[in-house]
Amino acid sequence: MSFIQWAIDPWGLRVPIHIAWFLIWVAAIAGLAFFVVHATYVRYFAKPRQFAPDGHPIPSEIPARVPRHSQVARAFHWIMAVSMLTLLFTAFLPRVGVQFNWVTYHWIAGTVLTASILFHIFHASFWLDFWSIWPDRIDMTDAYHRVLRAIGRPAPPPRKFAKYPLENKLYHGAIIVAGLCAIATGVFMMFRVRTVFFPRNPYLFSDMTWGMIYVLHGLAGVGLIALIMVHIYFGIRPEKRPITKSMIYGWMSREFYLEEHDPERWVVSPPNAANRTEERGLSDTRGNP
Ligand code: HEM
Repeated sequence: MSFIQWAIDPWGLRVPIHIAWFLIWVAAIAGLAFFVVHATYVRYFAKPRQFAPDGHPIPSEIPARVPRHSQVARAFHWIMAVSMLTLLFTAFLPRVGVQFNWVTYHWIAGTVLTASILFHIFHASFWLDFWSIWPDRIDMTDAYHRVLRAIGRPAPPPRKFAKYPLENKLYHGAIIVAGLCAIATGVFMMFRVRTVFFPRNPYLFSDMTWGMIYVLHGLAGVGLIALIMVHIYFGIRPEKRPITKSMIYGWMSREFYLEEHDPERWVVSPPNAANRTEERGLSDTRGNP
C-alpha cells in the first residue's frame, strides 16, 4: 500500500503523480472519528470547566454586546469559507465518482481563496490585533495545568481566555500550514491548465518536481478535509454557538464574554466607543474597521 501514486515518465524514470485517493476516505473517517470521540467525552466524561477566580474587579463599562469580529473580518471569513468548500467539493467529488468539469470551478475558487488570504494577512497585520491569534506564555502555562488536572494531579485552575482560547490558536496554525501549502502549490499548478492569468506551460518543471507539487497539494487538500470537518463540528456544537453567531452578527453577549474571557487579557472598548462602533455597524475590539 502506497500513499502516493507513481508512474513511469518518457525517460523511464519512476515519478510521483498524485496522492493515493484512498487518503480522502482516511481524512473523512478521521474527521468523523473525532466527532464521535469528542462528543462522547463531553457527554459522559468531561468534568465541568473551572477557571481561576478573576483576580481583579470586573470593569463596569463592558457593553451588553461585546464587539468581536468587524464587518471586514466577517466578510473575509465567509468568502474564505465558500471558496474553501468549493475547492474541497470540486477537487474530491470527481475522485469518488461524481464526474463534472471541475478544473475551471476549482482554479476560480482557488484564485478567490488566494486573494482573500492575501487580504487577510494584510488586514490582520495592520488593522487587527495581530498577536491575538498566537499562543502566549499564559496559554502555555494554563495548558500544562489543564493536562495535570485532567490526569488527576494537583494544579491551579487555568485563567479565563484572552480573545481566542489556545485550541483555536493551534487550529489556526494548522490551517495556515495546510492552506498556504495548498495555495503555493495550487498557484504553480495553474500553469498546467488553461486560465486567464498566464499561458499554459507544463514544461515549467521536471516531471519529478511536478509530481512532488501534486503530492503536496493533495496532502494539504486531504488534511483540509479533516480540518474543515472539525471546524464545522465545533461551529454547530451548542456551547460554541455564541461564538459562531458572533461570526454572523459581529458581537457576543456580555454574559458569555465574562463567563469565558478575562477582561484583562481581552480588553474591550469602553461603552461610548463600543456604541459608536455599533452605530457604524460594529468593528473589532480596538474600534478598527
Ligand atoms: C482547500 C484547498 C484545496 C484543495 C482541497 C485542493 C485539492 C486539489 C486536488 C485533490 C487536486 C487534484 C490534484 C491531482 O490530480 O493530484 C487539485 C488540482 C488543482 N488545484 Fe487544488 N486544491 C485546493 C486549493 C487550490 C488553490 C488555492 C489553487 C490555486 C491557487 C488550486 C489550483 C489547482 C489546480 C490548477 C489544479 C488542477 C491541476 C491539474 O488538473 O493539472 N487548488 N486540487
